[in-house]
Amino acid sequence: MEKPIRLQKFLAHAGVASRRKCEAIIESGRVQVDGRTVKTMGLKVTPGKEKITVDNKAIVAAEKHVYILLNKPKGYVTTVADPQGRPIVTSFLQNVKERVFPVGRLDLDTEGALLLTNDGELTQSILHPSNEVYKTYEAEVKGNPAPADLRTLETGVMVENRKTSPAKIRVLHKNKANAIIQITIHEGRKRQVKKMFQAIGHPVLSLKRLAYGNLGLGKLAPGKYRFLTKNEINLIFSNKSLYKQKNS
Ligand code: URA
Repeated sequence: MEKPIRLQKFLAHAGVASRRKCEAIIESGRVQVDGRTVKTMGLKVTPGKEKITVDNKAIVAAEKHVYILLNKPKGYVTTVADPQGRPIVTSFLQNVKERVFPVGRLDLDTEGALLLTNDGELTQSILHPSNEVYKTYEAEVKGNPAPADLRTLETGVMVENRKTSPAKIRVLHKNKANAIIQITIHEGRKRQVKKMFQAIGHPVLSLKRLAYGNLGLGKLAPGKYRFLTKNEINLIFSNKSLYKQKNS
């Protein structure tokens, strides 16, 4: 059972109006709790328990927002249901009663950081191109890209007739056969990282997302997940200065 909260907070969370406006709505006598009109502010209600109406219309309690970071293993589809019956990312979530959705997608054969939430507004802000949320990947690529090729990736490479936005590149390891390269981008085109490396002639052999902004996977093992705090959510958006520092 949920904790009791003030009536105006309940109404605001349920999307009736802002907290202030909800207070005014209560004062004007438009709200009933279990059939009784409530006009004062002190009353606490338990979401899901009482019948609450505004202008005789039932108000349904908003679901609590949850934020989950999963280390997606390869071989799982980033969806909540797959018509082809392939394994889905939400199968890892135990005891999560809220209906959460993945924020963006990772290819079937890509592993790493995947956010899941029931907060539609946050999902929109992470995915909206104008917010430029940076995602960092570790790509194992075929061969050994020359510095000029890496520079091309950094400044922008043509992918499907459109130049990509600047990227940050760091070579982590290389030998004759292949290289491991860290790449940070803020665009989210389909299979973007693979297409970028393909465009310079070094196809991706395996791909892992390490972070959204400054929110990294840490020690989370593949298939494991954890709940995030509000402060950690802020880390997703707090990467621009860091990106600029590294890039300068
Ligand atoms: N870029 C890709 O190519 N694949 C992913 O899964 C994510 C980013």
